[in-house]
This record gives sequence, structure tokens and C-alpha cells, in this order.
Amino acid sequence: MSPRILLSFLVVLALIPAGLADPHSFGNPGQISIRHLELDLSVDFDRSILEGSATLTLVRRAPTDSLVLDSKGLVIKRISQVGEKTGRLGFSVSAPSSNLGSSLTIDLPQDANKIRIEYQTTPDASALQWLGPEQTEGKKGPFLFTQSQAIHARSWIPCIDSPAVRMTYDATIRVDPKLVAVMSAETVGANREQGVFRFRMRQPIPSYLIALSVGVIDFRDISPRVRVYAEPEVVEKAAYEFADTEKMMKAAEELYGPYRWERYDMIVLPPSFPFGGMENPRLTFLTPTVLSGDRTLVDLVAHELAHSWSGNLVTNASWGDLWINEGFTVYLERRIMEKVFGADAAKMNCILGLQALEGSVKDFGGTHPFTKLAQNLYGHDPDDAFSDVPYEKGALLLHRLEGLFGRERLDQFLRSYFDDNAFRAVTTPLVESAIQNGLIRGHEDKLGGFSLKQWLYGTGLPEDVPRVETDGFTVVDRELEKYRKGTPAVELAVDGWITQQWLHFLRNLPKRLSVDQMTELDKAFSFTGTGNSEIFFDWAQLSLRNHYKPAFSSIKAFLLSMGRMKFVGPLFGTMVADKKLYPMAREIYELARPGYHPIGRAAMDKLLEWE
Ligand code: BES
Ligand code: ZN
Repeated sequence: MSPRILLSFLVVLALIPAGLADPHSFGNPGQISIRHLELDLSVDFDRSILEGSATLTLVRRAPTDSLVLDSKGLVIKRISQVGEKTGRLGFSVSAPSSNLGSSLTIDLPQDANKIRIEYQTTPDASALQWLGPEQTEGKKGPFLFTQSQAIHARSWIPCIDSPAVRMTYDATIRVDPKLVAVMSAETVGANREQGVFRFRMRQPIPSYLIALSVGVIDFRDISPRVRVYAEPEVVEKAAYEFADTEKMMKAAEELYGPYRWERYDMIVLPPSFPFGGMENPRLTFLTPTVLSGDRTLVDLVAHELAHSWSGNLVTNASWGDLWINEGFTVYLERRIMEKVFGADAAKMNCILGLQALEGSVKDFGGTHPFTKLAQNLYGHDPDDAFSDVPYEKGALLLHRLEGLFGRERLDQFLRSYFDDNAFRAVTTPLVESAIQNGLIRGHEDKLGGFSLKQWLYGTGLPEDVPRVETDGFTVVDRELEKYRKGTPAVELAVDGWITQQWLHFLRNLPKRLSVDQMTELDKAFSFTGTGNSEIFFDWAQLSLRNHYKPAFSSIKAFLLSMGRMKFVGPLFGTMVADKKLYPMAREIYELARPGYHPIGRAAMDKLLEWE
């Protein structure tokens, strides 16, 4: 064993019992953990439940006579030891706590290394959204999809639901024969006549990356290792939009080393999917709101693809360290964008990101603990702490390190960071020492006023945040200036502007606009009627803030048409903050709520104080 490997082994040993305790899991992986999971589940759309079993292969690290798992709303029918010796095992389920669910404690004989849990889910499982045919594009069949991040896997799989615990998995999924099942795994068998699909994930992954979709699903191949799945009505549009994905993969591999998951497929889900994308390994889940028709929103694909290194390969050990997943990923995403689409494309996203971050920091208040990179989420639901901070402040830190030490050195550092920690979980202190040892040591002369501690553990935005400029926005600034000085909207030179330029334009218009001014802008640029979700969202915010009523019915239609939280949350937020708009918020929410995913619904219920 090399001294370096020995050292990291010892560090891990020391951390497991102490520092790695995950505040969002009941499990005790330092004592006993899960190495492999076998799922056998029937998908019952009539009752909105999954029913079957989870078989866990255990690894023991210290003597114990019980195994503690996470579960949330699961109906546990029977637990047995399987393997050489068999027999039923006793268990108890604790009273549920609101977000964490219940601990499931199983009595464990000394020789038990494999156990089977027979169970079913409940219709309100927080990871699952059950859609009727009418909520799909084609209306030909029902649809189910999961969203396990951050702590929702436990609502459909009994497991140690912590990002620090990795396992391989096999799954058998049984569905109605007219439906197709896909998972974040390799498909190793599909019997469509009988509706039986078999999957295998050979790389060890944390529970939050286990994912399943079932529905009327078709596909198109983009390259030998890239495929896009979607409903038949959407699949052509999706294949067009994501045609550059193979190029992105090559760019990412050139930068950060081989892609370790063989295939990179994507599925475009029905519009109620609560996120833009989710990096489920081998099968990214995507919102259809990214299908703008002009490929200008594919930074989302670059982002989810980048998670194949930052997040899925090297994983945050608990959710307070989300920046380790998301900050690294945003930085990688922009490097991929730069390589495939040019520096301007990447810089525009950088600037928009920094502006969003400044907005979040202002809203939180500059000394709020949620403005730190390393967060203590003990007692908090990770979904409540979610913001731009881990994403954009995290990316800015890497950007800053690039500025200090140069691209070449940072890229080299990142490659060895991914290699050294592949298929492992890391904490902020661990990343801190990696940066210290791999980047800073011997180059202290370059540090200037930079403080790594301040960036990692301090609140607000450090004074040395890197700021970039780009011609793409200089052009827009010129037109904004003309507009402010009285040039009519129709006379502005906007030919060829891409989505990001329009966003910059909309975000930098005067805060207060009269209804006449809004009408003039709308006439000139047809914002209310745009099919581009990002542009519409910004226009909707402007319309609400300026009480521009001609846009209201489209805003309502937008909120009823999709459940992406990045759009839904702020739009309801704006309405709730304005006494005049509050009744409209409630009226729309009452109609929209049944269509939202449980995760989105929980967040909006809080915002609107929905009973
Ligand atoms: N992993 C996240 C989504 C997520 C984060 C789900 C935390 C649950 C808890 C995904 O990679 C993501 O960041 N999505 C963004 C994409 C964007 C930043 C390009 C989104 O959904 O908007
Ligand atoms: Zn992400």
C-alpha cells in the first residue's frame, strides 16, 4: 500500500464514526452499511404504489445486533434473512419526524449478511409523482417518475439514505405491458410483452441517484453512447435540441478524464418535473421547458453531464456540503460550454449566475448562515436551504483559484481530485486540504488577499469575487442605454440575440415600467407570447411587478403548464409579496397544486400557507 493510500484510508476510518455522521440519516454506516441492493418492484398505477421487495447485502464494520435504515411512509410487511441461513427478523419503525421519516430498526443475527424487506410505498411518497394520462403530452398512458435527491429515496426504498453510503444495484421492474421502464442503470433485459424490465448498476452510487421512470416512452439515438428518451410526441424535438451532447462528452473527457459510466442517456419528462435536470447516472432526467427549439438552453445538459465527475463520482458527504456537488459542477459546466460553444457562451452564463447570486445573498442578508458554502443543516430540511449559493459561490471559488494559479494547474488539480476521490464521499475540510496540498502549497506567493477559509466558511460574498465581461452583453448594454434615453423599443438592434442576451436585457430594464412602456416592449418583442420558458419567466416577473395585466392569463397558463420550481417558486413568491396579487396567487395555486410534484407542492404549501 502506498503511503498516500494508507493515509487516506486512515483518514476515512477516523471520520466514519465521528465527523461523517449525516444529520439527515438514521443509519450508522460506520458500524454496518449496505453494499448492494436488489429491487423487485411492481408498478401499480391504479393504487399509486410500488410493491415488492428490497434485498440488501450488508457490510459490517463493527459488532452490532441491529441494522438501522431510513424509511418514510413505507408499509413494511416482512423482513427476513436470506442466503445460507433464512428466517424472519424482528423490526420496529419509529414515529415519523416531518422530513426525515422514520428509522427502521431490524434485529440482526451475527451471521446475517443479506436481508430481504417486503414492502409497499404509499400514494403520497415524496419521491414519486404519479401522473394520469391527461398530465402527459400524448395522453396515451400514465406516467411515473422518481426524484430521490436530497432525502426522498427513503420514501420508495428502505435504505441508508445518506450520500456518504454507496452501493451497486440490480432491479426488476414490472409494469403494464404497454409501458416502458427506464432507470439510472444499464438495461440488461426488457420483455415488453410481459412488461418486465431488468437493470444493473455496477458502479457504487449513493441512494439519491437511484431513479425510475415509467410511461409511454420512445427514444432516438444521438451517438453510439448517447440516447434521448421521451414521450413519442416530444422525442424528435428533444433529439434536435440535444444533438451536441456527444461533443459535450468529448469536451468533458478532454478536460477531466474518462467518462466512467459507459453511456450517457437522457429522458425528457412530463412538465411537472420539479427541476431543470437531475444527474441520475447513465440517465439524466430533464424538464421539457428546456426545449426552446434553438439549443440555447443546453447549458443544462452540460451541467447534468458534468455531475458525472463532480457529484456522481466524487460526492458531497452530507447535504450541508452541497457546494461540493453543485459548485464544482457549475464550474465544469461552463468549461464544457466554452469548449463546445465558445468563451462568450460560458461568460454570459457566468454573469447571469453572479447576478442571481447577488440577488440571493441580498434576500438572505449578507450574514445569513445559508450564504456560507459549508453549511450546518442539522435541524433543517435540505430542500429548505436550497439556493444559488452552493452553485454560484462554489463555482466562483474555482474560478478564483483558476485566476490565482492558472488554468493548467487547476485542471491538473481537478483531474487528480476526481481520480483520488473517485466513488467516494468528501467533506468541506477534505476538499480544503486537497486544495491546500494540491494547489496552494509551494505557491503561497500567488495568494495575495485570497483567503480559502473565508471563502469556505464565511458568509456573504468575498470582496475578491472574479468579475467577467463579454461582448455578448456589451451589445445588449448599448441597446439598454438607447432605450433608457428614449429610443422606441422597435428601433433597438436586437437581431440575432440569443436567450442569454434577452435575459440580460430584461433583467436590466428600469425596475419600474408603466403599463404603456410594458405594452410597447411586448408589441416590439412579443414577450408574452414567447415559447422560450426562460425568457417568459423573466418577462412574467417584470409583468407581475409592474401590474401588466395583459400578461396575467399567460402567467396563469404557464404556472398550470409546468412544475419547475425555479420558475414556480419565484413567481408565486412575487405574487405573495404583493397584497394586490395575493388573491390571484391563491386562485392559481388551487388549480395548479394537484399537478405539482410532492416536493414542489411541499415548498409552495409553505410559501402560500396552504392548509
Ligand atoms: N442535482 C440538481 C438538482 C437538485 C439539487 C435536486 C438539490 C434536489 C436537491 C441538478 O443537477 C441541478 O442542479 N439542476 C438545476 C440545473 C441548473 C443549475 C443548470 C435545475 O434544476 O435548475
Ligand atoms: Zn446540479
